[in-house]
Amino acid sequence: MFQLANITKAYRTRDGQRLDILRGIDLTIGEGDYVAIVGGSGTGKSTLMNILGLLDRPDGGSFRFHGDEIASIAEPERARLRNRCIGFVFQQFHLLPRTTALDNVCLPLLYGPWDSPRRRAAEALAKVGLADRISHTPEQLSGGQQQRVAIARALVTDPTLLLADEPTGNLDPATTGEILSLFDTLNEAGTTIVLITHDSEVARRARRTLRLQGGVLF
Ligand SMILES: Nc1ncnc2c1ncn2[C@@H]1O[C@H](COP(=O)(O)OP(=O)(O)OP(=O)(O)O)[C@@H](O)[C@H]1O
Ligand SMILES: [Mg+2]
Repeated sequence: MFQLANITKAYRTRDGQRLDILRGIDLTIGEGDYVAIVGGSGTGKSTLMNILGLLDRPDGGSFRFHGDEIASIAEPERARLRNRCIGFVFQQFHLLPRTTALDNVCLPLLYGPWDSPRRRAAEALAKVGLADRISHTPEQLSGGQQQRVAIARALVTDPTLLLADEPTGNLDPATTGEILSLFDTLNEAGTTIVLITHDSEVARRARRTLRLQGGVLF
């Protein structure tokens, strides 16, 4: 499905200092794979996830998605791929404030070919256990409920690739178990999953675990 070779990414601080975060990432992910990425805080996991999700570009290296070199794909087509193929659960949720859970989950459906967006969004919210909270805005939801709205929004388009950055970081053990069962079901049905976690129990559910350390994955 995608293949990364020698991917690098550096940030520049305000005083001009260069921070090499990703120093040569090699990663191949096949259809139906389920990969957990672990590693210390600040090692670059979210940076890598943003690259995998076509939200950010690497500085160097090769990134092929379904055989095509991503760098050579123009932004409109990248946006289309993102919307049609990728579901993203952000570490900071990124829900729209003052907007109901239902409307937040509907959002990705407004840019694609999907019909009955409100019905689909309501079904996705029911899957994460929030059928009774669809009219609540993020301000009226607990942290774990907001996280589940973010998960519903990632799943509502039936993505072929689910990228989830600490998707259970705010959930209690029982709710974590429910979300992981949902991910298992999706993976058994063919969804490719890449998940970032600090929780070794969560990582164990994946087919394989990779560690990001010193800018490389192993
Ligand atoms: N825009 C930026 N400019 C400068 N430095 C940045 C920028 N974004 C991230 N960094 C730095 O890059 C490193 C990697 O950040 P990243 O968010 O990818 O870490 P992470 O592995 O996801 O950490 P956590 O587990 O805490 O979420 C951090 O040390 C961070 O300070
Ligand atoms: Mg992070």
